[in-house]
Amino acid sequence: VNEFYGRDLAYIHDVGFGDFARRAAPWLLRSIHSSGPGRKLVVDLGCGSGIWAERLLAAGFDVVGVDISAHMVRLAKRRAGRARFVHGSVFRTRLPLCDEVTAISECIGYAADRTAGETQVAKLFCRVFAALRPGGLFVFDIAVAGRVGYEVVGCRLGKDWLTVVRARERRQTITREIIAFRRVGRRWRRSEETHRLRLYRPAWIVRTLRNQGFRVRTIRGYGQLRFAKGWLGFVARKPRIVRS
Ligand SMILES: C[S@@+](CC[C@H](N)C(=O)[O-])C[C@H]1O[C@@H](n2cnc3c(N)ncnc32)[C@H](O)[C@@H]1O
Repeated sequence: VNEFYGRDLAYIHDVGFGDFARRAAPWLLRSIHSSGPGRKLVVDLGCGSGIWAERLLAAGFDVVGVDISAHMVRLAKRRAGRARFVHGSVFRTRLPLCDEVTAISECIGYAADRTAGETQVAKLFCRVFAALRPGGLFVFDIAVAGRVGYEVVGCRLGKDWLTVVRARERRQTITREIIAFRRVGRRWRRSEETHRLRLYRPAWIVRTLRNQGFRVRTIRGYGQLRFAKGWLGFVARKPRIVRS
């Protein structure tokens, strides 16, 4: 069975790869604050272990997080207990009426199921637009062509974990074969996962968001946190007055 952020990879992402969310948080908070006063609800798509949700709660926001990994949701509940977390795919979960929507660290590009593709993403944009209050922001980042190039193999080592990843980019898709080891007592437990990410064309993303009614700009980072090559961010605002 190919798990998706199973028990050990969810743990490893939390302890070893949580810095992206931590470093993105200050800029994201400033952007959200700039869209007006009052208590607000933020929906975080692909919320992972709740690092960003925790920052939002601390800044006085209400949060709903959605993630397809039950193990991520468990970690998120433990970290940010005052938020509400939903276990499910962002492509199928009903979105509540909200003030802002975020999806950070490539979440929207993951092809966690076979229906992933342009149609599904376009429908998501439509649902986000409908869920947002006028003036609300939708901020997300995705991998685009050139993120991997052809093939790279990399190894990351933490205190009690190790990952070996072979990433390949072919035909608008990145495939990451991940072998993870986690120390449990005196043993190293091994698990394997294969993640696929669809690479959408930035021009298509912008056009699809605009067709939906969003005002859109692309960004190369979240403030001080700059994206690596083949990685792009989008800030989409629902206008205060929506033309029908
Ligand atoms: C790279 S992690 C980022 C997690 C978190 N946003 C962060 O920055 O720490 C990607 C997350 O997206 C989630 N994800 C991917 N596809 C998803 C989908 N279709 N629906 C819900 N969550 C999804 C994964 O389970 C994982 O937690």
